[in-house]
Amino acid sequence: MAKVFNWQLGREIDFPYEVERPEKQFAMIFDTNKCISCQTCTVACKTTWTQGRGQEYMFWNNVETKPYGYYPLGWDVNILDALGVQAMDGPVYQGKTLFDAAPTGEVILGYVPDDRDYAHPNIGEDDSTGTMPRGAYMTAPHMQWMFYLPRICNHCTYAACLGACPRQSIYKRREDGIVLLDQSRCRGYRECVKACPYKKVYFNTQTKVSEKCIGCYPAVEGGRQTQCTTSCIGKIRVQGFLGKPDKPDADNPLDYLVFIKKVALPLYPQFGLEPNTYYIPPVHVPPAYLRQMFGWGVERAIETYKRAHEDTKLLAAMTLFGATPEISHYFRVDGDSVVGYDAKQAEIVRVPLREPAVVRELYDIKHKVYRTNIT
Ligand code: SF4
Ligand code: SF4
Ligand code: F3S
Repeated sequence: MAKVFNWQLGREIDFPYEVERPEKQFAMIFDTNKCISCQTCTVACKTTWTQGRGQEYMFWNNVETKPYGYYPLGWDVNILDALGVQAMDGPVYQGKTLFDAAPTGEVILGYVPDDRDYAHPNIGEDDSTGTMPRGAYMTAPHMQWMFYLPRICNHCTYAACLGACPRQSIYKRREDGIVLLDQSRCRGYRECVKACPYKKVYFNTQTKVSEKCIGCYPAVEGGRQTQCTTSCIGKIRVQGFLGKPDKPDADNPLDYLVFIKKVALPLYPQFGLEPNTYYIPPVHVPPAYLRQMFGWGVERAIETYKRAHEDTKLLAAMTLFGATPEISHYFRVDGDSVVGYDAKQAEIVRVPLREPAVVRELYDIKHKVYRTNIT
């Protein structure tokens, strides 16, 4: 076991290998407040990568409704239950990670889902908490709540799938931190399936080897964002690269949102893997639930998000979500616009920070009709 530093937990953790943090790390940010669970991302990924035999049940990208949706069934409550209640205060996490809680002789605390756990990818969709009493009316915060949680492989810095494979079939690319599974080495031991707490490795029963999200590396190598990002109807996603946590670059939109503004948070950081998908938390959900899911910075992240309209640079970084299919390595505010630049500092996109409001006349003279706004 090697000691490695997990910046999300503010302390060292044990990992089976000495790992060098990549120069740049493939990462995504999802704004949960904008997700409408249309599943376009899910279908875009499926039609691109998992149409073959034995892949029918695989959703490298899925969107589940929290708190009652899961894919596979109960993936997070099962492992949270096994880990037990932990102190969730920061800035240094005092509780146990899944690595700390590993049974003797194993790398990490994990479990293998039952085949039937994969049978209902949309279970719990749109279910909200509690029941609405008679005579209830809309209040804020809402009495009932739910939100959509899009999920992909987190291309973790300390990937449990990689650490657990006895064949060393899984590797993390030095150039961009994407975690890949070499199917020619894999012998189907499924230790990766057991170890990944996010359950983002899938065993193919036809080929007898495992598969996982490949971070759309052919697109990423060409400077384009992933399929699930560019297809997103709600423009909730941005994909790019994170630099080093101790040397954040304020001109890199992901560094800015994750390291500097801390408005986007990792999913279940207490597991200890340093996952690299980051979430802007939903503003309408009880903080205790969110703290367990995204860590102790959640209230501050929501406060920062709510005040984004007062912070031009933050607004600019968030305006890049869904603005271009290409990867914005850098961004700058230019007057009333945000400009995104590629790795060579060439301009790739320019978007106004505020859309003009257009009020239409009630009577359209050209078409000789009244316009009725019924929304
Ligand atoms: Fe591996 Fe799971 Fe992390 Fe993806 S989310 S890198 S499959 S441990
Ligand atoms: Fe699928 Fe690519 Fe998104 Fe991974 S990054 S979930 S492979 S579309
Ligand atoms: Fe290794 Fe997982 Fe294959 S443990 S051998 S990559 S099924």
